[in-house]
Amino acid sequence: SHRIMLGPLVAAIDQGTSSTRFLVFNSKTSELLSHHQVEIKQSFPKEGWVEEDPKEILQSVYECMERTCEKLTQLNIDISNIKAIGVTNQRETTIVWDKETGEPLYNAIVWLDLRTQSTVEHLINKTPGRNKNHLKHKTGLPISTYFSAVKLRWLMDNVDEVREAVVSHRAMFGTVDSWLIWCLTGGKSGGVHCTDVTNASRTMLFNIHTMDWDPELCKYFGIPMEVLPRVRSSSEIYGLMKSGALSGIPISGCLGDQSAALVGQMCFQDGQAKNTYGTGCFLLRNTGSKPVMSDHGLLTTVAYKLGRDKPACYALEGSVAIAGAVVRWLQDNLGIIGSSEELEKLAASVGTSYGCYFVPAFSGLYAPYWEPSARGIICGLTQFTNKSHLAFAALEAVCFQTREIMDAMNQDSGIPLTQLQVDGGMTSNRLLMQLQADILCIPVVKPSMPETTALGAAMAAGAAEGVSVWSLNPEDLSEVTSEKFEPQINTEESEFRYARWKKAVQKSMNWET
Ligand code: G3P
Repeated sequence: SHRIMLGPLVAAIDQGTSSTRFLVFNSKTSELLSHHQVEIKQSFPKEGWVEEDPKEILQSVYECMERTCEKLTQLNIDISNIKAIGVTNQRETTIVWDKETGEPLYNAIVWLDLRTQSTVEHLINKTPGRNKNHLKHKTGLPISTYFSAVKLRWLMDNVDEVREAVVSHRAMFGTVDSWLIWCLTGGKSGGVHCTDVTNASRTMLFNIHTMDWDPELCKYFGIPMEVLPRVRSSSEIYGLMKSGALSGIPISGCLGDQSAALVGQMCFQDGQAKNTYGTGCFLLRNTGSKPVMSDHGLLTTVAYKLGRDKPACYALEGSVAIAGAVVRWLQDNLGIIGSSEELEKLAASVGTSYGCYFVPAFSGLYAPYWEPSARGIICGLTQFTNKSHLAFAALEAVCFQTREIMDAMNQDSGIPLTQLQVDGGMTSNRLLMQLQADILCIPVVKPSMPETTALGAAMAAGAAEGVSVWSLNPEDLSEVTSEKFEPQINTEESEFRYARWKKAVQKSMNWET
């Protein structure tokens, strides 16, 4: 039955913080034909440190590709129909490797990592007026532990192998997209060292106006420009797969995962927005061809540039560090649930947090506060409180954090969102979706195909010059079917709970000072 509707196939590697996926779509219908997912280990070698193994990340990609190809073969679908591969990835996570041996010189420092907190505080203290937005006019970003530049600086200052490789011109820096593309296109024997504009815009070394690495920023962080990858658009052929079953297929799409979700949700118009619930939670609003600077703690970021000669589009972004990560914490660290599915049941069994508020500021607070010294707190406990209330409070925390970034976004743009398009793993939690609508006081709309991040990367890959099996004309794109959650509680109750949340947030701040 598949064979009748089968157009050219396009695949995507979706390398997220918690897992890697490989997915294959039919470019004619946007239908997901097959996929495979592998979890990624995270290590926490010291308090606040978060690392992953770059080789495990690469292996997980190969494993997902192989399994997905096997599944396609079982479905009687010929893998030679795959015409292009897109890459989408957790952003900011920083890797340095040796271009001669092909070996990583340290673990990947994950975006959530806090080891650079004192460096960041020192840098901010040195700016006129202790202004964390000192570099925002060029980067769109506040000085924060979140972005790659400080992580790379830390590696150069603290890891001998990295310092030596830099001195002897053997070091390559990259975010996860660069690492994967370099390895997949041949690694030490001819791999392509590149990144795309969306990933580059998260390093703090990239000028979002000139759309290139900025010599002054590199000097500010003491980063030699020769370690940086070449910056390309989000949709063009970077190179060909060098080995395995998919050898010879072009890699022709590359987008940071939040940008890819914006594309996959078809938010191509100025004003359209989406919120993705992954490890963290990221609300992006397309602002068209102009970068808009936020006065309310949001980031200005490159949304996409779908072709070498196409214009860049920008977005305002509200970033929440901890969303799905709180579920994993309840499971791995507290053991009160055995799986993420259990969380919904547990929380639904009480249907209230009973006045308990949980601010999961494990990595400080991101938007709109940008406060690295915040730490997680649970407050409002009584003898009545039990693990079900805590589970409920954890879900509510995700919703309140989204409310804070939506409010900031509405204030910045002056045009309030009238509904929120959502996607990502946690959207399968129906209680969370209902709570989100209740706390935002607007409807929440979820597409029936949840893999919008991968879809966006596949679309970019399929639309690239020289591939062109996927049209990005809005008229040609298939209608997205979706489900809508309407607010069910009154505004007063919603505002009351939100005000309590804000009080809890204040308590979580400046914990270390
Ligand atoms: O900025 C970090 C972001 O790209 C990570 O996304 O989906 O792994 O939470 P995710």
